[in-house]
Amino acid sequence: MSAYLITNVSVVGGPPTDLLIRDGVVAEIADGLSAPDATVVDGTGLVALPGLVDLHTHLREPGREDAETVESGSRAAAMGGYTAVCAMANTSPVADTAGVVEQVWRLGREAGLVDVQPIGAVTVGLAGERLAELGAMADSAARVRIFSDDGHCVADPLLMRRALEYVKAFDGVIAQHAEEPRLTEGAQMHEGEVSTRLGLIGWPAVAEEAIIARDVLLAEHVGSRLHVCHVSTAGSVEVLRQAKARGVRVTAEVTPHHLLLTDERAETYDPVFKVNPPLRTAADIAALRAALADGVIDIIATDHAPHAVEDKECEWAYARPGMLGLETALSIALDVLGPEWDLIAERMSRTPARIAGLTGHGVDPAPGVPANLTVVDPAARRTIEPAESASRSRNTPYARMTLPGRIVATFLRGEPTVLDGKAVK
Ligand code: DOR
Ligand code: ZN
Repeated sequence: MSAYLITNVSVVGGPPTDLLIRDGVVAEIADGLSAPDATVVDGTGLVALPGLVDLHTHLREPGREDAETVESGSRAAAMGGYTAVCAMANTSPVADTAGVVEQVWRLGREAGLVDVQPIGAVTVGLAGERLAELGAMADSAARVRIFSDDGHCVADPLLMRRALEYVKAFDGVIAQHAEEPRLTEGAQMHEGEVSTRLGLIGWPAVAEEAIIARDVLLAEHVGSRLHVCHVSTAGSVEVLRQAKARGVRVTAEVTPHHLLLTDERAETYDPVFKVNPPLRTAADIAALRAALADGVIDIIATDHAPHAVEDKECEWAYARPGMLGLETALSIALDVLGPEWDLIAERMSRTPARIAGLTGHGVDPAPGVPANLTVVDPAARRTIEPAESASRSRNTPYARMTLPGRIVATFLRGEPTVLDGKAVK
């Protein structure tokens, strides 16, 4: 195995030092290290972080390999500084059996660019009618611990209760896409002043808040773990704040786009800004940012949702919801949080790794720990060019925007997946 010496690098915001990677682990962190056999990476001005962990990635394989494959999505993840991603279950076929989750897990191993941890569906075919084989998926080689019907809400309260009860036995977690479907029928964007002006059917904040309120009560009743996907409203933050204060076992994520972009983007009628849940208001963004800082929201998750050109470059009403996120998440975090490296490591690596139960990830670089880490240049600024994405899709909402920060290198178990800002394989 190869050795890498990163010189003069800040480890999670600390003073510059040298970091030696050898045999898959961080061998040493000290000033003035030398290792004649090691490849030297000049870390001057750079920051080393534990490899980022994404709890919410759509990889589209099996079924929509034209939009993304496990391999292309893994490469986009590595380019974004990630060393592990959790792959959502809304593939075709749906990841609702041991067979499909094992297939995704195996494809991830073959690509070898990040650890791909499959998420299993809660209900058969995401149809919301019968529980999927949660136990078989948990016992499979993929060792599934997170279950989600993401893209759809587990709207039936009895099914949600049963799912929470079932996963309690192996400390699993139900990740809910909180959307009361009766309140969002035909919805095209956030319900508010802009939707009224544009004459588009609105997706009201209460459709999210009502489900979160119900589900924290169910999780409390059952004593099981709930994770709330892509929290998007100020009201949801208040529901979560109260639940956490009572000790409910609930965690929550926010996406980069919900931290940065408002519903006014819909005025362009450019479907690249169509996403579910929809972009909200500046007041929601302010509440989400405050909750991310104070911990009511635990993590940033990308909801990386690649879509083929024909599914995105069409009329707003016909376009699929979703946007790319893996390659830009760290830049948005840096923009929103500033160079708060400990907070960034907490929200984008340590806590998501803990929620997902991923050992060897989310651990700060220290002697003996697996070398899953990423090296960031915080001073760099780059202009986003969709054509340069490692994803098979092009639906980034940040096209031609100039964002802070660049991933210089990513290491998975001591081997670079990104070096000099370029994918290694
Ligand atoms: O915008 C979204 N896209 N929200 C979801 O919940 C699903 C996702 C997708 O799969 O494209
Ligand atoms: Zn979702």
